Amino acid sequence: MESSRTTGNGAEGSRSFTTSAKVIVDNSRFVAGGVNSNFRLGMAPGPLVFERGEGAYLHDVDGNRLIDYYCGMGAIVLGHNPPSIIDAVKEQLEKGWMYAGQTELEYEAARLVCERIPSAERLRFGSSGSEVAQAAMRLARAATGRRTIVKFEGHYHGWFDNILWSAAPALNAAGPESEPVAVSASEGQPQEDSEGLSILPWNNLPALEARVAKGDVAAVIMEPAMCNQGAIAPSEGYLAGAKAICEKHGTILVFDEVITGFRLGSGGAQERFDVTPDLSIFAKGIANGFQVAAIVGKGDLMDMFATGGVLHGGTYNAQAISMAATVAVQKALTPEHYTETSARGVRLREGIIEALSDAGIVAQVVGFPLMFHVGFGLEEPARNYRDIARADKAGYVRFCVELLNRGVRVLERGAWFVSAAHDDDVIDRTLEVVREAAKATAPHIGKA
Ligand SMILES: Cc1ncc(COP(=O)(O)O)c(C=O)c1O
Repeated sequence: MESSRTTGNGAEGSRSFTTSAKVIVDNSRFVAGGVNSNFRLGMAPGPLVFERGEGAYLHDVDGNRLIDYYCGMGAIVLGHNPPSIIDAVKEQLEKGWMYAGQTELEYEAARLVCERIPSAERLRFGSSGSEVAQAAMRLARAATGRRTIVKFEGHYHGWFDNILWSAAPALNAAGPESEPVAVSASEGQPQEDSEGLSILPWNNLPALEARVAKGDVAAVIMEPAMCNQGAIAPSEGYLAGAKAICEKHGTILVFDEVITGFRLGSGGAQERFDVTPDLSIFAKGIANGFQVAAIVGKGDLMDMFATGGVLHGGTYNAQAISMAATVAVQKALTPEHYTETSARGVRLREGIIEALSDAGIVAQVVGFPLMFHVGFGLEEPARNYRDIARADKAGYVRFCVELLNRGVRVLERGAWFVSAAHDDDVIDRTLEVVREAAKATAPHIGKA
């Protein structure tokens, strides 16, 4: 990889990212668009190229040290490169990693996850959230003999053709709020793939009841707190109501905890909101960024993978290095981790609210201690996708660039992920930067 080095750490507000830009352009002849996931395009001022991570920091090829709130799109719960994970992975590296057979490690990892997650009587490991979402839909269809999957507008369950609908649709294409139409997110998705779905507005129990009562719904899949768009908690009684509706009509309730798992609390959103679904899926934080995912749930359902003719496969599933990482991460996610890290997350969130208000920026900063969302221009907390879609995205992206230029990297879609490595000094420094960036952004808000 070419990189003409520059010193990026100039005066505040003037970091340079030109080496990243050049490396991306130069390497676009080998890698389409210079990135290996479309979700890494569209960043401001452009996709970055990194050399290493260290605790709460990332070091890029321009020589910038950035406080990182991307946290691997939510996967980094313990910080970058925690020594305990490095040691566990190194130990397993010496012993090999692909046996096409079982290891004691994967059983230990399974036990630790099952002991933590309320709905997890049994599990199967996979390698990505997208894959285990597919496994959940297949299992639900096999168990019920029905085809339709209810999915909610603004919720994301992976990039495969049969579910990548209405994840973040343009409002002018999305139909009426009470009856959203299925909007594809990619060229090349066959329209008929949407026929297996019914798209509903989230946080709306009457709409769910009316649809599920038709009796043809295999599964209702949802992010139990909506975290791909916003960081929106379920309304009081919504999750319990959804569970009751599903039970009444023989429909399987699936929680997609790929983001909320290991982040909203030790047992995920299902523990935080005290509602146990039939099936749930996890990824991201389960192994602090190693390629591990899991589908967990009721024993009788999960056993259909073993004896009910439901196929679940994957060469890389439960690969030994990933399992070593999973065991080490699960052991590190102690009650103290949640108490201490959450306290700092709350302090950060409150500090951001104060800084934005002092700068005269109208915003909603809502969510959870270890994952919250900043929505510029919103007068009220969002309840669903339609609300969040009305936020001032251009103003927020400008704020992100002001933050980045001062050494703080946050997602342009408004999410902030906090890890165990974001200690008090990091939070203090972040809040200084937030205050400066807010002041620099405020004069431009509302201007094209
Ligand atoms: C809620 C949710 N489900 C599923 C996925 C897909 O996971 P993966 O990117 O590991 O395929 C994501 C990814 O961001 C997610 O946030």
